[in-house]
Amino acid sequence: MFALRFAIPLVLAASVAFAQRTDVNYDESKVPKYVLPDPLVLNNGKRVGDARTWTNTRRPEILELFRSNVFGRIPGRPQGMTFELAEINQQTLGGSAIRKQVVVYFSKQKDGPKMEILLYVPAGARKPVPVFLGLNFTGNHSANADPGIRLGDLWQREPVNKKQAKQRATDASRGAAASRWQIEKILERGYGVATIYYGDIEPDFDGGMPYGVRPLFAKPGETRAADAWAAIGAWAWGLSRAMDYLETDKNVDARRVVLMGHSRLGKTALWAGAEEPRFAIVISNDSGEGGAALARRRFGERVKNLNTSFPHWFADNYWKFNDREDDLPIDAHMLIALIAPRPVYVASAQEDQWADPKGEFLAASAAGGVYKLLGKQGLETDQMPAIHQPIMNTVGYHIRAGKHDVTAYDWDRFLDFADKHFGRPR
Ligand code: GCU
Repeated sequence: MFALRFAIPLVLAASVAFAQRTDVNYDESKVPKYVLPDPLVLNNGKRVGDARTWTNTRRPEILELFRSNVFGRIPGRPQGMTFELAEINQQTLGGSAIRKQVVVYFSKQKDGPKMEILLYVPAGARKPVPVFLGLNFTGNHSANADPGIRLGDLWQREPVNKKQAKQRATDASRGAAASRWQIEKILERGYGVATIYYGDIEPDFDGGMPYGVRPLFAKPGETRAADAWAAIGAWAWGLSRAMDYLETDKNVDARRVVLMGHSRLGKTALWAGAEEPRFAIVISNDSGEGGAALARRRFGERVKNLNTSFPHWFADNYWKFNDREDDLPIDAHMLIALIAPRPVYVASAQEDQWADPKGEFLAASAAGGVYKLLGKQGLETDQMPAIHQPIMNTVGYHIRAGKHDVTAYDWDRFLDFADKHFGRPR
């Protein structure tokens, strides 16, 4: 009884302290008036009136604006990349799945940068299956308690020194992120699922660049360009390399790969989906600022927060827009529109105000004009739906109750969305 009476004032005190942070706007009435750049007006001011002009002229213009101002430029497939099937089990997860673990060596040097793909496909599928692909934050072994998942090296987020920065994962964290992956659910619905530890591609700390893939492409003596790729670009590039592998796997229908990313990896999924046409569907979960949320709303996280807290994520040119969101030649609706005409799904969480759920919705809504021009349906509304009322057109959206996370509810909707566009896999 006592504990209960005390709990309420404590919660209130915490939320008041949160609301009182003067540097972060959580007040809808303080969202400034803003004008979004029109995705359907060319750089020369002319209107885009047909699909061809979008595809041949306007889309490349917008892609270039994102490359030069936001994410930087990513290279192509490296020469000398090889795949090695390190492990296969024809009957895992109680006989329901085939498990494969594939090492992707990014160069001829086996001791150079590499990543490991964990892939499950339903056992007994008679045809190649559609697959969900996503990067994970905490190691492949955290995605499921399956004891056969190989333990890899994990990077600390804020390493004290380089020696301590990388440690071998242990059995203790097997399955720790299983609720975020829902592997059994995905398999039951007839899909495969592939995941890769993002730190294999580049560790996620300022100064982590030398330990990732970017040095493979650096020319001796080269100084870093303001539009050079950064960590999000590197992670996106790694997803394209995963696609290179999936195209070779006979259990996988590589024309039906759904890319899913959460949070910073949701920003990454949108950028990877924009750069890589082989992703058939793109899903951004709680991606927020620098992802699906409109920067011009200045609600929750802002460009300056991103650049100062995570200086290694974006191209250096992005710094120019700290406190100057209205000067951006693009906004999040145009990132989403780069995925058109492919299906794209944006998911928000009600308590994830830092990511600005309304800004995520409005961006998805404002991408609709491009989808319409290409003969597809956008969200077809600018009224945000209620909690747990998903919209599923070629653009999809939901907001669920709860905090910043990926949950079973989210996966149920992602699977529904994939079923809607691919047909139910058997
Ligand atoms: C921080 C960051 C967000 C990011 C999130 C995450 O909250 O400010 O931009 O999306 O981390 O990746 O978990």
